[in-house]
Amino acid sequence: MANLFEEIQPIVYKNAKVFFLDQTVLPAETKWVEVNSVEICWDAIRRLIVRGAPAIGIAAAFGMLVASRAAPKSSFEEYYSHMKNTGEYLATARPTAVNLFWALKRMDKKILASREKPLSEMDTIMESEALAIQKEDEEVCRAIGIHGQEIFSRTSCAKDKFTILTHCNAGSLATSKYGTALAPIYVSRERGLNVRVFVDETRPLLQGSRLTAYELYTSGVDVTVITDSMAASVMSKGWIDACIVGCDRVAANGDAANKIGTYGVALLARAHNIPFYVACPLSTVDLDTKCGSDIEIEERDPAEVTEGMGKRTAPYGVKVYNPAFDVTPHELISGIITEKGLIRPPYAKALAELLQARYSGLHN
Ligand code: MRU
Repeated sequence: MANLFEEIQPIVYKNAKVFFLDQTVLPAETKWVEVNSVEICWDAIRRLIVRGAPAIGIAAAFGMLVASRAAPKSSFEEYYSHMKNTGEYLATARPTAVNLFWALKRMDKKILASREKPLSEMDTIMESEALAIQKEDEEVCRAIGIHGQEIFSRTSCAKDKFTILTHCNAGSLATSKYGTALAPIYVSRERGLNVRVFVDETRPLLQGSRLTAYELYTSGVDVTVITDSMAASVMSKGWIDACIVGCDRVAANGDAANKIGTYGVALLARAHNIPFYVACPLSTVDLDTKCGSDIEIEERDPAEVTEGMGKRTAPYGVKVYNPAFDVTPHELISGIITEKGLIRPPYAKALAELLQARYSGLHN
């Protein structure tokens, strides 16, 4: 099933079936997982078959569609109880990316808003909502790309040529299309601008070298992989115009959780006077989380560190600490690029205003 789709896409809905591209085996293999049970969906999110904050949200929305098909439909109460339990179960797959909870909440609201409809229509309603979340994510990422490209053009001394450094994968593979951090790169390419990318390999699971390098390279972007420990040296040479990363959750004060190692990149960027941007949809902003220290940081299996390269790289029995994310304090962030444009400090005020406008219908 290598050519199930033509573009790089992590989640495909085809002939009423849900498929996730197995990102654990990329770039060596193109393998698809058919998601025909909620357990498969949970496991795929947990094991990073599907990963990246927006993609996790979309995956969960399709998980709810799969759940709806199997749900009892003799009464709304029975149906809703099944769906509510499923949502709570899917929410336990990973703790840090707020998009997972955002998407599940949206599916839940949709169910409640449809309670007067015949239960026989619920599968179609869930299908439309999951597809809408996927489609909107594509539009949002495109908008982030346009804003980001304009920022890069202003940042670089040579307006048609710039070099950026990114960490982890916040590209098409992490969203429905374009990505967040990588969207400005794709838009730059479309506009005929000359963009070069340095990508940290991103220990321990190598999302940078396996996924970002894969998608940029196959799209014809000039990409160079470096190990995480080479970023300082590359910055010191004056090769980087800007750093841009994605994000799993932005707290109300602008602190941002992203893949482990991002905080280090931000510190290095500050030391070298390089702007450091976070790119994310507004669905990644969580005003209920006051600051970065309130964000739950996922800790993963020690084997990802000791055997992540497919070969034992540490003594058996040694202690391992494996947090999957870290928090970049808002003071180190030059700007947050969203679908509504660039947000500058002070973030607390700007984020609250933007989110309030969104929910009061000023923005969709
Ligand atoms: O553990 P992962 O691979 O899900 O981590 C992903 C990241 O840290 C991404 O940078 C983030 O989710 C943003 S994706 C647009």
